[in-house]
Amino acid sequence: MIENEKWNKIFNTPLEEPPVNEPERQYYFMEKAKILIQELVQKAGRPLTFCVTTFGCQMNARDSEKLCGILKNIGYIEQEDEEKADFVIYNTCTVRENANQRVYGRLGQLGKAKKKNPYMIIGLCGCMMQEPEVVEKIKKSYRFVDLIFGTHNIYKFAELIVSRLESQRMIIDIWKDTDKIVEDLPVERKYPFKSGVNIMFGCNNFCSYCIVPYVRGRERSRDPRAIIREIEKLAQDGVVEIMLLGQNVNSYGKTLDEPMSFAQLLQEVEKVDGIERIRFMTSHPKDLSDELIEVMARSEKICRHLHLPVQSGSSRILKKMNRRYTKEQYLALVEKIRKAVPDISLTTDIIVGFPGETEEDFLETMDVVKRVRYDSAFTFIYSKRTGTPAAVMEDQVPPDVIKDRFDRLLKEVQHISSEVCAIHQGTTQTVLVESVNDHEPGMVTGRLSNNLLVHFPGDEKLIGTLVNVYLDECKGFYYIGTRV
Ligand code: 5AD
Ligand code: SF4
Repeated sequence: MIENEKWNKIFNTPLEEPPVNEPERQYYFMEKAKILIQELVQKAGRPLTFCVTTFGCQMNARDSEKLCGILKNIGYIEQEDEEKADFVIYNTCTVRENANQRVYGRLGQLGKAKKKNPYMIIGLCGCMMQEPEVVEKIKKSYRFVDLIFGTHNIYKFAELIVSRLESQRMIIDIWKDTDKIVEDLPVERKYPFKSGVNIMFGCNNFCSYCIVPYVRGRERSRDPRAIIREIEKLAQDGVVEIMLLGQNVNSYGKTLDEPMSFAQLLQEVEKVDGIERIRFMTSHPKDLSDELIEVMARSEKICRHLHLPVQSGSSRILKKMNRRYTKEQYLALVEKIRKAVPDISLTTDIIVGFPGETEEDFLETMDVVKRVRYDSAFTFIYSKRTGTPAAVMEDQVPPDVIKDRFDRLLKEVQHISSEVCAIHQGTTQTVLVESVNDHEPGMVTGRLSNNLLVHFPGDEKLIGTLVNVYLDECKGFYYIGTRV
């Protein structure tokens, strides 16, 4: 425990009770953690380091930046090698079973590293921790883990660290759901020039294969004023590109006290000076409005890219998936978008081997791929997630059949994608420069509005700026260009 004297040095009055309100409460615990970590640093006679490892989607990547913000704030220094770090945290994903397997595999390795480092603290958080069986397994087979928390109380990270440092016990804190959104905690951004911005949390769609609604809870939209305030601050900080994040951004604002549509929010975001590019993820086809298409078509700032997960091309399977659109409706939507925004790049997610999928159903999916001609498609083998309606459906497809379909689909997707990507060859496009190219000295790498990468001669001074680049040659999934 920290003696009162130390507290008196920080606060004028002795603080017996932490504040009740957030985020003040977490700032109180960060101060407390700073003192505890300083004591450990002195004992160790060296700085202490941290490593945050992220699995899963953009939402998790953004959450990890929040974890980094707090660890830095309390005195840890970032380090890339997790086995050498003193505080390691895995921000986990559970969307498919193989994501879980990867976590267990790496955790085993980490346990060995911990035996050699008495200062090592291991934390686990994120979607996988929302599953009771997972937590049971860790309690039983991975006793060396220090801290487990879930997706709803990530804002309590500082408080949980203090609990761990004060008790030396395994700390477990998982909430089933929350309606709380805590604003204004520290964030350590990975890139100085671009950033994700959460606009909503959770999901109400209940696609029958998907575990997300169970692990991320009910849909909650952030107050638009808080979103704009955050984006204004980011712009002042030099951020030029933002990615608005939510499981289903098209239903943004429906549950707010003063309801607002996603298209309206986008128009507010566009007004922020300094923001040059706006992206968003993920769109559900059933909720994509005409208003949004119009706003995209008019906009100078919204990127020419739409990720529109189709999941399957068979209306019969889509019904079993509870996607609430048919193949025809999806194709009509694509046509409408292409008409309004002809240069749009479309990407998608596809699941192969959903229970009951027949060869005919699969051919419907192939048909959609051939008709839409996606710029790229993420293809997934169906993974049975306990607790979802699909897990108990009959006719689970045999693995060898799935493998065969998956290979055929991947081949088609890649073939089309290489053709589609090449269409910008010989044009000049605006590029946001992201990094120097590690492999080729004198080259930098940037991103087009449609999300493709381009490598061209330049130096690190260009990072974070928007420049015009002539696309000389398409090399499959990226371009080689020249600055103009
Ligand atoms: N099995 C396979 N893929 C899945 N996805 C979500 N749940 C599952 C599952 N049980 C895929 C969907 C989603 C993407 C993020 O992950 O295609 O769009
Ligand atoms: Fe994985 Fe879904 Fe959680 Fe993202 S929200 S980390 S995809 S389970």
